[in-house]
Amino acid sequence: MAQTINTAVTRTDAPRKVTGTATYAADVIPSGMLHGALATSSIAVGTLTGIDTKRAEAEPGVIAVFTHENLPDFKTVKGFYAGGPGSASFWPMEGNEIKYAGQPIAYVVAETAAAARRGSQLIDATYEVSEANAHMDAEDSFVIGASGDSKGMVTTKGDVSKGLAEAAQTIDVEYTTPFQHHNPMEMFSATAEWNGDKLTVWMPSQSVRTLRGGIAAAYGLPETSVRVICPFVGGAFGSKAGITPYAMLTIAASKAVAAPVRLIVTRPQMFTVATFRPESIQKFRLGADATGKLTAFEHIEISQTSQFDVVTNPGTHITRAMYASPNIHTEQRVARSDTNTGGFMRAPNEMQTFFGLEQAMDELALKVGVDPVEMRRVNDTKRHPVEDVPFSSRSLMECYDAVSDSFGWDQRSPEVGSMTDGDWLVGFGCATATYPTNILASNARVRMQGSGSAYIELAAHDVGTGSYTIFAQIAAARLGLPVEACDVVMGEADLPVAPLSGGSTTAASAGSAVHDACLRIGRAVAMEVTAQSEGPLAGVDPKLITLDNGVLRGPDGKSQPLLEALASTAAGEQEAVGEFRHPALTDKLIRATFAGGYGTAGPVTPEFAMFAFGAEMVEVHVNRWTHEIRVPRLHGAFAAGTILNRKTAHSQLMGGMVWGIGSALHEVTEVDKPRARYLNTNIAEYLVPVNADVREVRVEMLDEKDDYVNPLGVKGIGELGIVGTAAAIANAVHHATGKRLRKLPIRMSDLV
Ligand code: MOS
Repeated sequence: MAQTINTAVTRTDAPRKVTGTATYAADVIPSGMLHGALATSSIAVGTLTGIDTKRAEAEPGVIAVFTHENLPDFKTVKGFYAGGPGSASFWPMEGNEIKYAGQPIAYVVAETAAAARRGSQLIDATYEVSEANAHMDAEDSFVIGASGDSKGMVTTKGDVSKGLAEAAQTIDVEYTTPFQHHNPMEMFSATAEWNGDKLTVWMPSQSVRTLRGGIAAAYGLPETSVRVICPFVGGAFGSKAGITPYAMLTIAASKAVAAPVRLIVTRPQMFTVATFRPESIQKFRLGADATGKLTAFEHIEISQTSQFDVVTNPGTHITRAMYASPNIHTEQRVARSDTNTGGFMRAPNEMQTFFGLEQAMDELALKVGVDPVEMRRVNDTKRHPVEDVPFSSRSLMECYDAVSDSFGWDQRSPEVGSMTDGDWLVGFGCATATYPTNILASNARVRMQGSGSAYIELAAHDVGTGSYTIFAQIAAARLGLPVEACDVVMGEADLPVAPLSGGSTTAASAGSAVHDACLRIGRAVAMEVTAQSEGPLAGVDPKLITLDNGVLRGPDGKSQPLLEALASTAAGEQEAVGEFRHPALTDKLIRATFAGGYGTAGPVTPEFAMFAFGAEMVEVHVNRWTHEIRVPRLHGAFAAGTILNRKTAHSQLMGGMVWGIGSALHEVTEVDKPRARYLNTNIAEYLVPVNADVREVRVEMLDEKDDYVNPLGVKGIGELGIVGTAAAIANAVHHATGKRLRKLPIRMSDLV
C-alpha cells in the first residue's frame, strides 16, 4: 500500500469545485423560496425614532418588511460568549437602540433578490443621533477577560523593573495594528426553511454544530429538529464561526412569511454584520544583556472592543511563551469604541502581537549589536518561560537554520542602508512565527466495505483548507485503501460531533478521531477473523493484533490485509465511531464542544506547552526616489508536527505568507473615527496583494515528531503562515532605509 500521509495528494474536492458541482450554502433553492435583504443603520449611536416602511412595501415584488416593531418570533441566541460562538451579545431589531453603524434595522422579503434589495433601499428611518467615536483610547483601557473577570489576563514572573535596571540595553516601544476585515470570496448568506416545527438552515459555517445548538436553544427545539447544512465554504478566516443576527433574522422572517427565505448579505454589509480583526496597540519594554539575552520582558496589549462585548483574543499568552527571560510581565487590556463586536481573524492573536514582538526583538538586537537570528538563538528555550513546563516539541532554531540556508542570510551586510541595487535600497529582515496547538474533542464515524471503499462522516468542515482530502488520506493510510476509495461526508450538524474549523484545529483534533475510528475497525475485524476456524489469523489472541498500514499483524509474523480479512467476515463490512479525547480535555471542555461551544484545551497543559513554530525571511526593495516598496523574496520554514498533505499544507502556509504581505503593505479598514464608520467597505478599495505584488514565495516544511499533541502528531498549519510576515517586512524596510515603522500598513508616504 502506498504511503498516503505526508505526501502531496491533490485535493479530492478539486473536480467538484472547478466544474461548479460543489454545492455552496447559497446554491440551494428550496421550492417556493423568497429573498431577503437587510437595511442597515446609517448612524453609529443613537435611537431609531421612526421607521417608515411604506415605500418599501409598495415596491413591486416586496412581500413583507420587518422592523423591530413587527418581527414576530425573532429569537436571539444567548449564552455563547460574544466574539466567539456568539458573534455579539447585542441583538439588533430587538428594540430601537442603535449601537454601531451598519446595524440591521429592517428585513425585507420579496419575490426576487433585486426587489428585496430595492425595498431595503426604500426604508425611511429617522434617528436621534448621539455622539459616536471609534477612536481607541489607550488611557481608557482596562483589564478584563471574555468571562467578565480579569482571571489570567495579567501575568508576572520576577521583577521587570529590576530586569530593566540590570540590562545593558533596553527598549520601550509601541506598535499599532489597524482594523481589518476578512472578506472571504463567498458572501455571508443564510437560507431557512421551516416545515412545521422542523427547521433546515443552509449557511456557510465554520461550526455547523454551534449554529444548530444556538438555533435549537433559541427556539426551544430539540437539536434533532434543526438541520444545518454546509458542505463547502468559500473562505472563512474566522468570519463564519459565530452565530450572527442576520442568520437569526432570516430564520424569523422565514417563519413569519411561511416560506423558505434566503438572504445574501451585500459586500458593504459584510463589514458590519459579522466580526473583524480589532485594532490594537502593542507595548513592549525589553531589556537585554551584552550578549542579547533578555533580562526583562514586558508586553501590554490593548485591543479594541465594542461598547457591549469584551473580545480578548489574548495575544500576550502567546508572546510570553516565545523567549526565555527571568523577569516577565504581560497584560491583556481592552478599550471600547462604537463599533460592532470584533472576533477571530486568521491568526487572531498572533498577527498583531508578532508585528510588535518580532520588531521589538529586531530593535533590541540592533541596539545590542547582535545579528537578529542570533538574538532569537540566545533567547531560545526548551521550557515555557512562565508556566515552567517543557515544550512538547519546539523546532524554532531548526526553522531559522533551514530558512537561513534557503534565503542566504549570510549575504546580509548588517549595516542599515548598506545594500543597494541601482535605484533600490535593499533590506533583509526576519521574524519568528508561531501558532498554539489548540485541542478539542471530536468524534468521527468510518464505515469500511468489503468491496474496498470507506465512508468517513463527521460534522467538520472544509473551509477551503483541504480537510476533505486529509481525512480521506488518514483513512486510506490506516485501512490500506486508495485515497479515491475513501469518501468523506462533512458539513452537516447531525453527523458525529466535530469541533469548529478554527484555531487550526481540524486536522489535529477531528483527524485524530478519524484515525481512532479506523483503529477500532481493525480491532473489530481482528476479533472476528481470530475466532474463525481457518485463515492466517485464526486462533490468534486478538489483543496481540495491530493495524499497520492496512495490514492486521499478529505475533510470529502472522498477518492478513485488513480488506481481505473484512471480506471474510459475516457482514463483509464494519463501522466504528472513533473518538479523540486528549488527556488535557476535561469533562467540562468535552461537554462544551458537544453542546456546540468551543471546548478548547491548550496550548499549555500541566505537562507540556504545545506550539508550532516557523521562521520567515524577506528581502524588500525600496525605491530611493519614489519610496515604492517591493517584496521580491519571502521565504519561510515551518515545523508543525506531522504534515499530512504536503500540497495542501504548502498552499496554506504560502497563502498565509501572501496575506502577510497584504497585512504589511496594503490591508486596512479605513475608519472615520469621529463618526465611527468604516469607509472602504468594498473589495475595490480594500487592498489585498495581487499577482504583481507577489514574487518568490518559498515554503519549507520541516520534519517534526510530537507524540504528545495527538496520535497523529499534527499541530495544525491553518494560521501559522501569516504570523511573522508583517514584522519580517518591517524589519527589512528598516534594514533598507533606517526608518522604523511601527504602524500597519506600511506605506510609501511613511518613507518620505
Ligand atoms: Mo481561524 S481565525 O480560527 O478561522
